[in-house]
Amino acid sequence: MTEARPASTTVTPTPGALGTPLSPHATRVLLLGSGELGKEVAIELQRLGAEVVAVDRYADAPAMQVAHRAHVVDMLDAAALRAVLDAERPHVVVPEIEAIATQVLAEVEASGVRVVPTARATRLTMDREGIRRLAAEELGLPTSPYRFVDTFDAFRSAVAEVGLPCVVKPVMSSSGKGQSVVRTADDVEGAWAYAQTGGRATASGEAGVRVIVEGFVTFDYEITMLTVRSVAGTTFCPPVGHVQVDGDYRESWQPAPMSDKALAAAEAMAARVTEALCSSSGCGWGLFGVELFVVGDEVLFSEVSPRPHDTGLVTLVSQDVSEFGLHARAILGLPVAAPAPVGGPGQQAAASCAVLAEGTGVPVFDDVAAALAVPTAQVRLFGKPRVEGGRRRVAVALARGADVEQARSRARDAAAALKVRLA
Ligand SMILES: Nc1ncnc2c1ncn2[C@@H]1O[C@H](COP(=O)(O)OP(=O)(O)OP(=O)(O)O)[C@@H](O)[C@H]1O
Ligand SMILES: [Mg+2]
Repeated sequence: MTEARPASTTVTPTPGALGTPLSPHATRVLLLGSGELGKEVAIELQRLGAEVVAVDRYADAPAMQVAHRAHVVDMLDAAALRAVLDAERPHVVVPEIEAIATQVLAEVEASGVRVVPTARATRLTMDREGIRRLAAEELGLPTSPYRFVDTFDAFRSAVAEVGLPCVVKPVMSSSGKGQSVVRTADDVEGAWAYAQTGGRATASGEAGVRVIVEGFVTFDYEITMLTVRSVAGTTFCPPVGHVQVDGDYRESWQPAPMSDKALAAAEAMAARVTEALCSSSGCGWGLFGVELFVVGDEVLFSEVSPRPHDTGLVTLVSQDVSEFGLHARAILGLPVAAPAPVGGPGQQAAASCAVLAEGTGVPVFDDVAAALAVPTAQVRLFGKPRVEGGRRRVAVALARGADVEQARSRARDAAAALKVRLA
């Protein structure tokens, strides 16, 4: 842990005014979660002269490497989290992951600290039940049919009610962990067992880990609507299309081709759900990734991240201001306008392709030059200190092209050329 050194006398900045880091006029921003998305947010905050503090449960996490200070704590440990907040006295707290003791966020918000986008939005979106009930039951947005259960008997009934095929997920999980599809009656026991081991929460007493059973949506395609709420109101990035494997993002592209009707429905839905999440407390400023399924011209709500989205990595090469830059501006109280596309003729589309490493060790990229030899290609190597078993995203390849197909094919080629081994 790096020692906390906020200036001894400090001045609380007014939103939109920015000072100088490491001085009494610093705007101190504390990131809870320091992965590759947080690293890009930290870089954008640094560019605007914020004092950046990065927190995660392991040392040398990507965002820590570009922050002024870092702390290693378990963010689900309320006392440990409070101790860091007391030491750092941030003006803005930015949750970058879902696994956080959210009652602490409510307390700091009540004491006048800006929690991004709000403490309530962070709580509602860390749990699939909070956001699903808000979207489907309070707002009446179309979603897949669903049930929440926490015993195997109730699970069996829920699968029968929702019908096959259906998707099973722990309510507290991300990146596809514990998620599986039940296609036949033979899959029921395995899906329950898998969901019990894959989430963040552990079972207590008789009940198991709570899961959602969702009807399987045979969508034509899925998108992320990157939605920004700032002091200037709500604006959108062009839709991001993506493919997921085992519930985890592999490729994304922008702009996702959509009918005008579907795009209008997607924007309206994104505006409504982000507004409802932020209506009751705090500023509600920041960028959101609203995940939607599209069937013809119909749009179904899936879930929302109140922070930059992994599929939005493509915006690093598609827009004049990336999703990370938009987030940084919004959370500092600056107005955000719709981003402009950067691709000139022959480069109107952009794509990203995740680079995964599997096993244990330190990632080494042996032929970065080969990846960069692909026309328009760029790479971001996240600097993750280690991969500890399993499969982890360690880099992303980015490219532009005349259309989505060309951009995707270039990003895939660059990702394949960027050979990663674990030393
Ligand atoms: N009801 C469904 N019908 C069809 N496909 C689904 C359904 N739910 C999820 N999926 C597929 O699985 C992917 C991951 O699901 P979801 O976003 O709910 O999980 P997650 O663990 O929160 O993932 P992430 O953290 O990467 O967003 C979706 O993007 C979609 O491709
Ligand atoms: Mg998702």
